Amino acid sequence: MAKRLFIKTYGCQMNVYDSARMADVLAPLGYLPVDEADAADMVILNTCHIREKATEKVFSELGRMRSLKEAKTGAGGKMILAVAGCVAQAEGAEILRRAPYVDIIFGPQAYHRLPELVARATRAGGGVLETGFSTEPKFDSLPEMAAPQGVSALLTVQEGCDKFCTFCVVPYTRGAEYSRPVAEVVDEARRMVDAGSREITLLGQNVNAYHDPGPGGKGEWGLGRLIRALSEIDGLERIRYTTSHPRDMDDDLIAAHREVEALMPFLHLPVQSGSDRVLAAMNRRHTADEYRRIVERLRRARSDIAFSTDFIVGYPGESERDFADTMALAQEAGFAQAYSFKYSPRPGTPAATESGQIPQAAKERRLAELQTLLNDQQIAFNRSCVGRRLAVLLDGEGRDSGQLVGRSPYMQPVHVKVPRRRRGVIAGTVQDLEIVEAHPNGLSGILAASAPVASADGPSERACA
Ligand code: 5AD
Ligand code: SF4
Repeated sequence: MAKRLFIKTYGCQMNVYDSARMADVLAPLGYLPVDEADAADMVILNTCHIREKATEKVFSELGRMRSLKEAKTGAGGKMILAVAGCVAQAEGAEILRRAPYVDIIFGPQAYHRLPELVARATRAGGGVLETGFSTEPKFDSLPEMAAPQGVSALLTVQEGCDKFCTFCVVPYTRGAEYSRPVAEVVDEARRMVDAGSREITLLGQNVNAYHDPGPGGKGEWGLGRLIRALSEIDGLERIRYTTSHPRDMDDDLIAAHREVEALMPFLHLPVQSGSDRVLAAMNRRHTADEYRRIVERLRRARSDIAFSTDFIVGYPGESERDFADTMALAQEAGFAQAYSFKYSPRPGTPAATESGQIPQAAKERRLAELQTLLNDQQIAFNRSCVGRRLAVLLDGEGRDSGQLVGRSPYMQPVHVKVPRRRRGVIAGTVQDLEIVEAHPNGLSGILAASAPVASADGPSERACA
């Protein structure tokens, strides 16, 4: 009988991809993914350590899982409880100490060895800790055939980071930068498209640092060239990539935005701060003006491109003037979407012990001010889409019955009413939608074929903003 596997995923899309691959690795052992932890035979918490309270969240969830595990044991069954991901990597020993009922703790570079870890945990009755960075590349040992991910799929092409921004745990939890070979990425993308995917998002902590000598080992492949190769795959309609570093936005990648039609006109490009002083202290290796110039060049390459970003406020030593520079950059750049965070000291990172830590109240005030501006920008961007025709990949059921939902080129969720008889044909395809309403976090559209002709005025590739 199939064993039930429940994976709870925290954090970024790379963790979502990893969780799917964990399920692939465990499938030959008879594990099938389920949506509920109750009565599961194995539970994995795939954790994130990027910001505050991550560890405490994991411990409180572990408390809940412990009761489920005890209930299962009480009923004569057995549940393997595992903690994976970046909290496992950073706090493995602490987890083992505080939650000895956890059977397996493994970091992001060890999940290809799950069958062996499960066997070890079963033999030893738990207590398996695997947080080394193994030298054998994980991807070589993953099964080729992954379970289909659906019309929109995630594909990790790069992992780890060598940038060492002073606030960030990633270089410590995910390890050194590693790019997967071109041939392997192209094969995996082909298999995804054969299995029905129409959109692929290329993932990496620093995805545009991607580099590989390519087939034959003699070339030089960056992300731009990889994207061009992927765009040749028949049936692959949309390509995205995330997350990028401004320093690695090279000419070829910018040119790919001009030349590759399947490359969506939306880019998540974290800036973190608008102050050169703070950017230098963060070891970001770019100035605010360099960021502005990259945005400009991308806009020249693809006039309809929209941007999303990340900001941190209250970095140690951030003055009111520095914060004003951040507000000015946000104002000028005009983001379609943005994430902003209060600086939170992460154990083991250089910034955590820097002098000039900013009081909580000041961080909160700055964050609120910045978020007001960013929310206004997002709403303005969404409003500017009304009356336009946007191509939407309809990949899900909407809130109400009779609705489908999908993503615009700019990642906005778009809801659309579809007559029942057409739903089966339209679900999972890209449709031109006439945008009729904007909401703070998304749009509503109608099928362009059923839209009044008079309002079908804009080509779908025109910029929203
Ligand atoms: N404090 C606050 N925000 C952080 N981020 C990363 N580390 C920290 C930290 N210590 C944010 C950055 C990054 C995003 C994924 O999380 O903005 O781009
Ligand atoms: Fe962290 Fe991104 Fe900086 Fe790498 S580039 S250290 S992942 S913030």
